[in-house]
Amino acid sequence: MTPLDQTRKASQTAASSHTGAERLLAWYDAHHRDLPWRVTPVAFARGVRADPYRVWMSEVMLQQTTVEAVKAYFRNFIEKWPTVEALAAAPAEDVMKAWAGLGYYSRARNLKACADLVALRGGRFPDTEAGLRELPGIGAYTAAAIAAIAFDQPAAVVDGNVERVMTRLYSIETPLSEAKPQIRALVEELVPQTRPGDFAQAMMDLGATICTPKRPRCMLCPLREDCSAILSGDPERFPVRLPKDDKPLRKGAAFVAERDDGAILLRKRPEKGLLGGMTEVPTTGWTARIDGATTADAAPFPAAWRRAGQIGHVFTHFALELDVFHAHVTGDAPDGHFWSLAHEISGEALPTVMKKVIEAAIPGATKKQRPL
Ligand code: ADE
Repeated sequence: MTPLDQTRKASQTAASSHTGAERLLAWYDAHHRDLPWRVTPVAFARGVRADPYRVWMSEVMLQQTTVEAVKAYFRNFIEKWPTVEALAAAPAEDVMKAWAGLGYYSRARNLKACADLVALRGGRFPDTEAGLRELPGIGAYTAAAIAAIAFDQPAAVVDGNVERVMTRLYSIETPLSEAKPQIRALVEELVPQTRPGDFAQAMMDLGATICTPKRPRCMLCPLREDCSAILSGDPERFPVRLPKDDKPLRKGAAFVAERDDGAILLRKRPEKGLLGGMTEVPTTGWTARIDGATTADAAPFPAAWRRAGQIGHVFTHFALELDVFHAHVTGDAPDGHFWSLAHEISGEALPTVMKKVIEAAIPGATKKQRPL
């Protein structure tokens, strides 16, 4: 037994007779975050159960961005489409528009495909991990989260927050990219048979509010008696990561053509690939792997193009730098393009990168609302 193990054993003996999971659940009862898709522990104790549709929707969104950012998107989706049948009945275009800004648009397409399939099968989500995994867009993480949170199954739910908690709890020295099977096995051991859904959410809340990447608040942690990283004096060292290659930088140009009435010329991206099916202004032919031209003479049609600035955007696998050109133009939209009226631009399925482009050329253009 190493000195670390001895100290740990001694502190465990001194600790309360409650298991880690019990202490975590007691902490969650007092300190859980109130989130719009969540059933509180009090309501859960009274027999209220989470709606699988809401759990599924929130988990898909939470893979994209922070809890804070998801709240507004979640409320908007639920208000527009309160049930899976309502979402299935919605035009795909409307779903893409409501998703715009969340990024990773293949997820929005899968969201719709999944709703269509569940509605077709009578509107009920499968209640097992295996059944859930067969649905479009539901991977191992999402299936486990829905099974645990909506159906109270003792599934091991492992997201980035949980990985951080576990690598600290057990001082896992293996780099995170290689430690995932070990982490999963340890979570499986910890998951309690009672309230596994609350346990999963408690682990996530613990990671988000106490066991944070920087300056964790170990003194407030319900698992501090079990945590081996705290004994090492440097919990921030975990998870251990391999040095990472920087993302490649791609370049290109984007062209914001504006009509006198404020309409902007747009086009739809191909359904397949990056930002598939989303709306954009004309750009040069950049991709994740190749640069596009960066000068005004590469514009899709001649106009008095003026350089309006440059924007940067970071995608999952590369960073993009676009030179933005602006021109006032008249006439019909070229083939494959359309004019979006000034008050319609905010409702277009514009990805964040395109909002940045348009804002660089015409500040405020993506925020105009229909006049009353
Ligand atoms: N992150 C991902 N899913 C979550 C959930 N259900 N609760 C809190 N944070 C989360």
